[in-house]
Amino acid sequence: MDKLVIEGGRPLKGSVTVSGSKNALLPILAATLLTPEKCVIKNAPLLSDTYTMLRILRHLGVSAEIDGSTIHVKSGKLKKFNAPYRFVSTMRASFCVLGPLLARLKKAEVSLPGGCVIGIRPVDLHLKGLKALGANIEIKEGYVCAQAKRLSGKQIFLGGSFGSSVLATANVMMAATLTPGTTIIENAACEPETVDLANFLNRMGAKIKGQGSPRIEIKGVKYLSGAKYEIIPDRIEAITFAIAAALSKGEVTIKNVRVEHLSAVIEKLVEAGVKVKKGKNFIFVKRTGSLRPVDITTLPYPGFPTDVQAQFMALMSVASGISVITEKIYPDRFMHISELNRMGAQIFRQGPYSIVHGVKNLKGAQVMASDLRASAALVLAGLIAKDKTEVFRIYHLDRGYENLDKKLTQLGARIYRGKQ
Ligand code: UD1
Repeated sequence: MDKLVIEGGRPLKGSVTVSGSKNALLPILAATLLTPEKCVIKNAPLLSDTYTMLRILRHLGVSAEIDGSTIHVKSGKLKKFNAPYRFVSTMRASFCVLGPLLARLKKAEVSLPGGCVIGIRPVDLHLKGLKALGANIEIKEGYVCAQAKRLSGKQIFLGGSFGSSVLATANVMMAATLTPGTTIIENAACEPETVDLANFLNRMGAKIKGQGSPRIEIKGVKYLSGAKYEIIPDRIEAITFAIAAALSKGEVTIKNVRVEHLSAVIEKLVEAGVKVKKGKNFIFVKRTGSLRPVDITTLPYPGFPTDVQAQFMALMSVASGISVITEKIYPDRFMHISELNRMGAQIFRQGPYSIVHGVKNLKGAQVMASDLRASAALVLAGLIAKDKTEVFRIYHLDRGYENLDKKLTQLGARIYRGKQ
């Protein structure tokens, strides 16, 4: 198993180009199951999650090839209709093959994903939406077994205790594209990745309106064709670099971004005293003075993303004062606190709230990555910690960041891989 070793204390300088969005790519790859024709997906990040999704597609009978950052897929005649536990348990996004399989084959068996380290992650909204379209769903031996004689469009309210759901919206929207009649999803996710999926489906010939708003309308069509599509840049990667620049007192230009996707976090960075200059498709981030403490609350888009909570906490751990971080999407997503505290941070958790007492410096330590974004937070903390930080279990990081260590090296960080 690999670990990352970071020698902290070097301000990041230069420019970095953001890869395509992982969270946009994975459902879009699942959506290619809706057509037997060839699809070409450009700007795809090559991550371990990408390979997992391609393994699932191949298992179902899809042919898939990677050429640089372009993925060619053709599902032709599907050979199977199931997604086994070994895939879904390692990557929750695999669950979004359920909607496309059901729409195309009228049957699907997909393993329940189970919980994960960031907390309980139910799939009730996915199932509620597909049932509303007319699917008959049973849970057998840990699998969701769905079938339908025919599906028909409905008005569906897709909100749960924590608001909208990104992948439930994706699953229901994908199923609805080939469902006769009109489906209306109320309280739909407004995330840019949901919009990207809808745009890709429309490129295939779907009739979707309202993406990006909480009310999405889908008029079912008989057939979807192949399509060429370019994935949006990864907003979480972009912001991770912005926070890295701010933390290290650096000056970094972050290229290939959609500035409008970053508003909530840029606003908070500016509040904290970080300079952020916005360009057409880049941002320039610089910090010279001390960091002011800033409170954040994670919310569905366009609110502050839960996927940036851990990295922002690393930033606030060295602010000059106390900040409160409230997690409203995954109230247990705080595994990084104890690791940051091992590096000298002073963070206290009370349920979904964390109180961060800013300290002057962090100190290098051996720390354990627990999930994707927590790993990123530990790497960022390592960039400014005194002496050496070793981050173990970085396979989490490789699930979601393309060449993070190489990109940080380009910016002047001293970071290298070793064996654990
Ligand atoms: C997606 C993202 C993930 C991000 C999350 C929230 C991908 C591949 N992953 O995950 O990086 O952290 O959105 O922005 O795109 N919920 C239910 N019932 C359901 C489904 C969800 O109660 O059936 C709850 C969840 O527990 C959570 C909230 O709804 O509290 C939002 O989760 P959701 O948007 O579904 O997350 P994912 O789509 O799984």
